[in-house]
Amino acid sequence: MKKFLVTIVLLFSLFRSYADEGMWLPLLLGEQVYAEMQKKGLKLTKEQLYSINKASLKDAIIIFGNGCTGEIVSSQGLIFTNHHCGYNSIASASSVEHNYLRDGFYAKNQKEEIPTALTVQFLSRIDDVTKEVLDSLGTLLGKARADKQSAVLASINARLSNKDEAIECRISPLFKGNQFLAFIYQRYSDIRLVGTPPESIGKFGGDTDNWEWPRHTGDFSVFRVYMNKEGKAAAYNETNVPLKPKYFLPVSLRGLKDGDFAMTWGYPGSTNRYETSLGVQLSTDINNPTLVKLRDVRLKYMLAEMQKDAGTKLKLAGDYASIANYWKFYDGETKQLLKYDVFGQKQKAEADFIKWAKDKPGYDAIFPEWEKVYTAWRPYAQHRMYMNEGLSGSPLIAYASSLIMLEAALVKTNATKADVTKAMNAATTARKTFLEQHNAASDQLILGSVLMMYYRDIPKEQHPIGFFEAVKGSFGDLKDELTWKKFAAAVFSNTMILNEEKWNAFVSNPDGLKLQEDPAYHIAGSFFKNWNTKFLPRFQEFTIKNNDLGRLYLKGIMEMNPAKAKKMYPDATFTMRISFGNVKSYTPRDGVKYDLVTTSRGLMEKYKPGDYEFDLPSKQIELLKKKDFGQYIDKGRNDLVIGFITTNDITGGNSGSPVINANGELIGLAFDGNYEALSHKLAFDKDLNRTICVDIRYVLWCIDKLGGAPHLIKELKLVR
Ligand code: ARG
Repeated sequence: MKKFLVTIVLLFSLFRSYADEGMWLPLLLGEQVYAEMQKKGLKLTKEQLYSINKASLKDAIIIFGNGCTGEIVSSQGLIFTNHHCGYNSIASASSVEHNYLRDGFYAKNQKEEIPTALTVQFLSRIDDVTKEVLDSLGTLLGKARADKQSAVLASINARLSNKDEAIECRISPLFKGNQFLAFIYQRYSDIRLVGTPPESIGKFGGDTDNWEWPRHTGDFSVFRVYMNKEGKAAAYNETNVPLKPKYFLPVSLRGLKDGDFAMTWGYPGSTNRYETSLGVQLSTDINNPTLVKLRDVRLKYMLAEMQKDAGTKLKLAGDYASIANYWKFYDGETKQLLKYDVFGQKQKAEADFIKWAKDKPGYDAIFPEWEKVYTAWRPYAQHRMYMNEGLSGSPLIAYASSLIMLEAALVKTNATKADVTKAMNAATTARKTFLEQHNAASDQLILGSVLMMYYRDIPKEQHPIGFFEAVKGSFGDLKDELTWKKFAAAVFSNTMILNEEKWNAFVSNPDGLKLQEDPAYHIAGSFFKNWNTKFLPRFQEFTIKNNDLGRLYLKGIMEMNPAKAKKMYPDATFTMRISFGNVKSYTPRDGVKYDLVTTSRGLMEKYKPGDYEFDLPSKQIELLKKKDFGQYIDKGRNDLVIGFITTNDITGGNSGSPVINANGELIGLAFDGNYEALSHKLAFDKDLNRTICVDIRYVLWCIDKLGGAPHLIKELKLVR
């Protein structure tokens, strides 16, 4: 294991030039990686990028909410992030009367900024705790190792955190658990909405354009982080004041050209670049297509309701957007994995490894063992997707499944009254939240459809015992859609979960039998208990073995090929990473070249008045027709640049990441990846991979010219 650590240090220092693949840890930015950045054009010193003692660029980068990136852009704690990252908060701040999601919003002064439920986190420092963790894990394997690892990480996290000060440590296992770094964050909880463009701009092109270039989306929103008067992180309070940040990014108004240096800083969520051919096959054969077809159903019914009225739209918009986002992603991922034969590529690499591993104890058994692990799991993989995306895809059933705890408390012979009250209160609180977001019309159709699909697709021997027989007895032919429509209608009109009177009666007289008889709970109980007792343990075993083998495989790859090891960076783990490359056009297919920027001309070409995805505010049309671009004009192109692309290596979680030029100035916000490289989580394509960004000059134009909020522009440090 020691040897491995040495290898990691070496690989960062012996790094050589290659394509723009790589999500680098700022802590481990070795001399050679840095030299490569300079070669590509970077003008900043290493200290200006990342320093523990002095303010550096890294201090401007934040975790925004639960899964996005943001950046500080003023001395007053102003935050830029994507519109799709602020989406839920914007929808929550909206009502049918004050519809900020639809119409946009800019606070005229700090008093008008709207409190949100968001938090942001600044990275204070990174500690290497590899030795401590690995020493305590020793040679443990399987469940024993997984359990021990959870315990050790929890105890170090507790040691390095300080709840009272909102300092939180989260250790991230890197290189599939061969290295462990502790990331220490400062969390702030008073985050206010400052401004947002109308959705027609922030989500221009909708799901049709999502994951695609050329793109014309103004995907930005503006927030501010507040602290208390003593300068500490604190919960929302009227008397709080804007944060005085350690560092904020200056903003460039200069133009872009092919080949310009560009780096992104942020929080890529997950990649699995050392996934095996077995894993790729499981995704393309089972996991992805099942997810896509179940989401098809959910999206179809939700959209129909959202288009009926503004209130329903506000209620469902956030969920709809996230379901749609990864529906298109996984569909595209499958297509690209097959198109580039990633399975074949992985098999070739594995054949080399198997040859090398022959007669090397430990390594030689990896692939025969892996085959067995996958063979044991495959028959249940589709069932798992049906639980996550089908049964749980019905909000009613997802909520009902949370009542399994309540049932346990109710039927336990020695349960105390306090236990029951506690479980009942939790259920009632969760029910309130559930009902606030619930749209029964779409949910009822979803439930009917997914149950019918489950019946058709999941092997009989995996079904919950007795469930389908009973439905058949009362409702008829299980292959007939009408049967399921009638069944779902009966569930929705009889469940106490959706009936205030019945629910209150249940609360005042809690009774296990009553719960078991509830038709919605009956479904949840039948399917989830069946899953939890018979199949979930198999999945856990699969995951644990897969992790053990993955860790060993990666260690072996590094030993086998030290030259390759030098080019390695850890998979994304929602920890801060730097990716660097260039602004660059590309050729998506034979005979076609994609330009590196899009402009207002293209926006007007796509504009479709009244369309759900391609409409624009009339004021915008007026201004664009007049070519009123102000100081945000791209002089070379005599137009307003809307979006651009770079070769940076990013993934989901990077949304909202700053795109920074050679001088450390903000030139755009990263918000998407391109369709041709949607296999990027499992295999990086050095020719086709692009990061899609909104040009910062378009962002400022929207705030200033369209939004009428020049006071926000005054807060920024503009570089011309
Ligand atoms: N694909 C983008 C991402 O994952 C999200 C874009 C949101 N827009 C949408 N139409 N769903 O970061």
